[in-house]
Amino acid sequence: MKRKAAEAALAYVKPGMVLGLGTGSTARFFLEGVSRLVREGVDLKGVPTSFATADAAKELGIPLTSLEERPSVDLCVDGADEVDPKLDLIKGLGGALFREKIVAAASKRFIVIVDASKLVPRLGTKAPVPVEVHPFGWKAAAAALEGLGATVELRRRDSETVRTDNGNNLLDARFGPIKAPSKLATRIAAIPGVVGHGLFLGMADAVLVASDEGVRTLRPTRTS
Ligand code: 5RP
Repeated sequence: MKRKAAEAALAYVKPGMVLGLGTGSTARFFLEGVSRLVREGVDLKGVPTSFATADAAKELGIPLTSLEERPSVDLCVDGADEVDPKLDLIKGLGGALFREKIVAAASKRFIVIVDASKLVPRLGTKAPVPVEVHPFGWKAAAAALEGLGATVELRRRDSETVRTDNGNNLLDARFGPIKAPSKLATRIAAIPGVVGHGLFLGMADAVLVASDEGVRTLRPTRTS
C-alpha cells in the first residue's frame, strides 16, 4: 500500500524540479521512484528531510541540494502518522519532524502519501504528538506538556535516549483525540525549550491514500 501511494505521487514530479524528500518507510518508496526517473535521465534534485533520507538518496543516486542553495522547493512528498478529515497531520514518529516541517513549509506543493490505516477521525486517536525539545530542561518541557493534559514519554531506543538529527530529545505526548489541534499547537509551541512539534496543520495540498481499492486523492476544503 505504501509503495502504491508513493508511485502515485510520481505523477506530480516534473523535469527540473527540486523535490523535498520525506522520511520514513512510505517516503522511501517515493525515493526509489525518483531514483528510477533520475536513471532514465530526468533532471531532478532532492532536499532531504533527515540524515537517513540523505543517505538513502545518495545510495539511490538522487542528486541532492540544500535549502541554502535552493530555498524554494517545487514539491515535497512525505508520509504521515495520522491524517484527519481536514487533512491536518501528525508526523514525527520517525523523529524527523523538525526538518520535515521546514522543508514542507518551503515547498510550493506538499503531498502526503499514506496507506488507509493512517486516516483517523481526530488527530491523537492512535498516535502521540512527537515534540522535539532541547536536552537542557527537557523535563520541564515534559511537565508543561503534562499540564496540557498529555501523558508524556521520553523517546528511547534500546534504553538509550533517542537524539534527533539536530541533537535534541523527543517527547511523545499522548493527548488522546484532540478537539482543537490549532489551539494545542499554539500552546505546545509556546513551551520554552520546544524546538518543534508533529502537528502539521493546514499544510497538506493533497493526501494520496492507498487501499485495496486503489489510490484516492484527498484535497483540503479551504475557505480562504
Ligand atoms: C518521520 C515521519 C514519517 O513520515 C511518518 O512517521 C510515517 O512513517 P512511515 O511512512 O514509515 O509510516 O513523520 O518523522
